[in-house]
Amino acid sequence: MINGIISFFNIYQEMNKDVILIVGSNGQLGTVLTQKLRLIYGVYNVIASDLYEKTGFEDNFITLDATDFKAIEEIVLKKKVTQIYHLAAILSAKGEQNPLGTWDLNMKTLFNVLEVSRLHNVNKVFFPSSVAVFGNNIDKENTLQSSNLTPSTVYGISKAAGENWGNYYFEKYGLDVRSLRYPGVVGYQSLPGGGTTDYAVDIYHKAVNNEVFDCFLEASTTLPMIYMDDAIRATIELMEADKEKITVRTSYNLSGMSFNPEQIASSIKEHYPNLKIAYKPDFRQAIADSWPKCINDTAARNDWNWKPQFDLEQMTKVMIENLK
Ligand code: SER
Repeated sequence: MINGIISFFNIYQEMNKDVILIVGSNGQLGTVLTQKLRLIYGVYNVIASDLYEKTGFEDNFITLDATDFKAIEEIVLKKKVTQIYHLAAILSAKGEQNPLGTWDLNMKTLFNVLEVSRLHNVNKVFFPSSVAVFGNNIDKENTLQSSNLTPSTVYGISKAAGENWGNYYFEKYGLDVRSLRYPGVVGYQSLPGGGTTDYAVDIYHKAVNNEVFDCFLEASTTLPMIYMDDAIRATIELMEADKEKITVRTSYNLSGMSFNPEQIASSIKEHYPNLKIAYKPDFRQAIADSWPKCINDTAARNDWNWKPQFDLEQMTKVMIENLK
């Protein structure tokens, strides 16, 4: 029986030539993306990797420090990897505690992924960018794809540079690097860590546990956000789109919804009327103030038919159903 299953997997892998390596599979996006990709490609063909093994996620997992070029190279050669999703990074708020260390980590890991891919025939690379690439000198109500990039955080600087490196590897070496500028991602399956948009996940946890929510942003701070299912679907749709359709080789603007803490709190109060929220803005307020409120994602809609499905009310309903 076991031999039968193994040979079935071997045949399946032969038929389905794509072998995917996820770098940073324990993170907020990685946790969910790994599961979704495995539904499409099979567990055997989607290798999860991160610094530490997480309980419950041991299947086809490899411990990997992405700052170690040789370690990535070894996996890519041994497993005949054809696609890499490079999700490891230090986010906006945490990155400000150690600017140079954040730059080193975010760039070193990206260079390793790009170089290993170029040298060993990886077909496609996914690099997540962020609305953090934008800074104060933009139209915040309708932030265009082509807006100037003057990021206010080291994280944003590393993402803006990373987008350009992706474009460079595409232009110079033909490496098929694809990228999205994610808004703040909200999901129930995993917690974000060290970001400025994290409050929008935390508030749901506090609501279902009947705890007071201390919000580190002011009530009126509107930011672009996206529900996890939309974020994952956008990622897979972009990666599966025909190559000729991809006209943006830096990174696509991506829009889901926009709201501020007061609006998310009122949508939650429809289910938990007693939710208490205390506004205690800290250093993250200045980061949020420098970011767009609403993203124009026409290029993504035109090139690969992007369309978000979740608005704030729908997201709140699903978040609460799953967390309570
Ligand atoms: N959600 C991220 C952060 O807040 C931005 O990409 O840092």
